[in-house]
Amino acid sequence: MKARILVLNGPNLNLLGVRQPEVYGEYSYADVVDVCHRAAAARGAEAEVRQTNDEAELLEWIHDVVRDKNFSAIVINPAAWTHTSVALADALVIPEVPVIEVHLSNVHAREAFRHHSYVSPVASGVIAGFGIAGYGYAVDRAVDLS
Ligand code: DQA
Repeated sequence: MKARILVLNGPNLNLLGVRQPEVYGEYSYADVVDVCHRAAAARGAEAEVRQTNDEAELLEWIHDVVRDKNFSAIVINPAAWTHTSVALADALVIPEVPVIEVHLSNVHAREAFRHHSYVSPVASGVIAGFGIAGYGYAVDRAVDLS
């Protein structure tokens, strides 16, 4: 069966390219979407890429994976919710599909509050510090695990 990867992005990632380019790079959110689509297509898979600034909406999208059984893996850049959201970690285990956590920046080389992730303990793997290329690696691995 064709792998279908759901790529989820948390708050402020819609402003990539404008937002602190020295930290997050010059690429736009549209470029992230493109990298994901290309990485999936290269493996004969499909990627659906979404972004929200509303945590409730993100949780609903994860619940949809349970309800509709429509995705074989989740790639997620939870952005700031990485460091704050027990609700997100709780939701991510419910669908029982592999989860790959991705960050554009190397969160471990930054402020101490970014060193802890509620998502990492429920993820199959974590990719951080490779900019938008990290999304390509994450989608590729998500296909392997699908
Ligand atoms: C981020 C890192 C987070 O600490 C931050 O809150 C973000 C983006 C990253 O992709 O490097 O919004 O997840």
